Amino acid sequence: MKKILVLFSHPKFEKSRANNALVNRIIDIEGVTFHDLYEAYPDFNINVPAEKELLEAHDIIIWHHPFYWYSCPPLMKQWIDMVLEFGWAYGPNGNALQSKTCLNVITTGGSREVYCSEGSNSFTVRQFLRPFEQTANLCGMHYLPPFAAMETHKLTDEALTNYANQYANLVTLLQNNLSNNDCKGFSFINDIPKLNTI
Ligand SMILES: Cc1cc2nc3c(=O)[nH]c(=O)nc-3n(C[C@H](O)[C@H](O)[C@H](O)COP(=O)(O)O)c2cc1C
Repeated sequence: MKKILVLFSHPKFEKSRANNALVNRIIDIEGVTFHDLYEAYPDFNINVPAEKELLEAHDIIIWHHPFYWYSCPPLMKQWIDMVLEFGWAYGPNGNALQSKTCLNVITTGGSREVYCSEGSNSFTVRQFLRPFEQTANLCGMHYLPPFAAMETHKLTDEALTNYANQYANLVTLLQNNLSNNDCKGFSFINDIPKLNTI
């Protein structure tokens, strides 16, 4: 079974509704390491050797965060800046993350409809996530389409529970038998057939 590291970043987790529901559903799954960055590093002083050790011990890396200003909260960016070092994550002999799998799990206020060229956000979610995709590429990782719980402020409790269950199913799929091919052509991993038939 593949080991999953969930790197979680939410500056106001104590006030969270959407991410609280998602996290609660996956935190106790065997083989999942849940790592709350704001809890671990309230001063932004990241323990780089410890983070590298965690990465080396896992096969799948999830960047889990609310979508803030079309990106991630600042501590996640700090984590990327500090941990993914030249000569370790990329560059000459920088192959520590080679062949691992990586994806974003996000929650957004905006709906799917507003994330397109004609919509009020002008670009797709996948376009906004390009820096993450290319960071993964540069480090030799396989980047999968994002899992997104969208329009969070309008979600009923039932709809949110559905997202949380889907996230748990995704974790199980990732641990067992999800290939890159299963995700080809999909903008959101939410939509892949394998996730919707279990
Ligand atoms: C500072 C800030 C920036 C935000 N930026 C975006 C954004 O760029 N796009 C979007 O769709 N939602 C945006 N939102 C809405 C959040 O993504 C949404 O409130 C969050 O995902 C809900 O999750 P939670 O209940 O776990 O906090 C933003 C919210 C805040 C507070």
